[in-house]
Amino acid sequence: MDDPLRLAVIGTGVMGNAQLTALADGDDAVVVACADSDAAALARACGLHGVERAYADWRAMLDQETVDAICVCTPNALHAEMTIAALRQGLHVLVEKPMALSIADALEMAHAAREAGVHLVVGFQYRFDPRTEAIRRAIAAGALGRILHVRCQALRRRGLPNRPGALRGEITGGGPLIDIGVHVLELAHWLMGSPRPIAATAAMWTTIADRPMQALARWPDWDWRGCTVEDLAVGQVRFQDGATLAIETSYAAHIAEDVWNVQLFGSEGGATWDTATIHRDANATMWNEVCAHPGERPVFAAKLQHFIDVCRGRCANQAPPEHGVLIQAMLDGWYRSAALGREVRLDGVS
Ligand SMILES: NC(=O)c1ccc[n+]([C@@H]2O[C@H](COP(=O)([O-])OP(=O)(O)OC[C@H]3O[C@@H](n4cnc5c(N)ncnc54)[C@H](O)[C@@H]3O)[C@@H](O)[C@H]2O)c1
Repeated sequence: MDDPLRLAVIGTGVMGNAQLTALADGDDAVVVACADSDAAALARACGLHGVERAYADWRAMLDQETVDAICVCTPNALHAEMTIAALRQGLHVLVEKPMALSIADALEMAHAAREAGVHLVVGFQYRFDPRTEAIRRAIAAGALGRILHVRCQALRRRGLPNRPGALRGEITGGGPLIDIGVHVLELAHWLMGSPRPIAATAAMWTTIADRPMQALARWPDWDWRGCTVEDLAVGQVRFQDGATLAIETSYAAHIAEDVWNVQLFGSEGGATWDTATIHRDANATMWNEVCAHPGERPVFAAKLQHFIDVCRGRCANQAPPEHGVLIQAMLDGWYRSAALGREVRLDGVS
């Protein structure tokens, strides 16, 4: 039995706490230190999760602690700087989604991991969802034939994040597309076999997030005055192999109910992710085959365990920086396309 992996967490907000909770369940890793610039958040998290050493300055933590790996759970705009610093110190890194704010940063992060010879895992947890794994097995067995098109949706009727900075593009890199759309995108792209995107087109609007609350919402009092991001984005990507992917994502759309789903259209069959269903023809009949028991693995725990296993050399990295770069290329391309009002090429993604 190996000694527990020694971990440190930067950022003890919502995600930092979720990771600390997931890590507390296993004995494969131990969190020895946390860093956060917010003293109250840091003290609360360290107290709650029994972490012994707390740092207001994450660089001081990297200098003073002897750890194997770092979890980066800070706002998106800080991911690249913190990740690259830790990688250059020879530490493995789990960086939360989205990987970065730009393709240039994502490429630099991937390069830093390669140079240092350590692992960088991107926090794409939906590829560890049991439904994803069930559908991937069906795809591998040929149930869908050639995947032609995928539709991804991350749509909230009224779910505008109301924590400070959540609607400020300089901190987040954008609105629902980069924040929640990235989840269904990474899942869809993984199911497709991580093909190379070559062109993107998108349109985006802000019509609700930049106004005071008009109808009672679950998360009231969002920072509408400071909003600089989209609240609705739609886009399409073409891949090198001819397949396409469409995305619809919103914090606030006038729809009947929230949607969180991926649908795959294949030459021999289709799949619907949320219900783990395969659609196909057999015996002169159209069938919808619902998976009876995909499994019940919590995705946060699965993501953290995967990170530990990758650091230990027990398995290949299933959320490598190279995938993060392709996801970032699509996100960047969609933002660029919406700003320019035309399709853009996604060159230089290597
Ligand atoms: N995988 C998921 O399902 C999921 C869910 C939520 C958030 N996230 C991601 O996790 C990241 C954090 O999001 P969150 O919701 O936890 O935000 P949050 O605001 O709750 O937490 C961020 C923490 O980072 C700290 N921080 C800010 N600047 C810092 C600095 N310079 N040094 C140290 N600490 C600093 C803040 O004080 C705060 O405690 C984001 O990238 C977000 O996209 C992922």
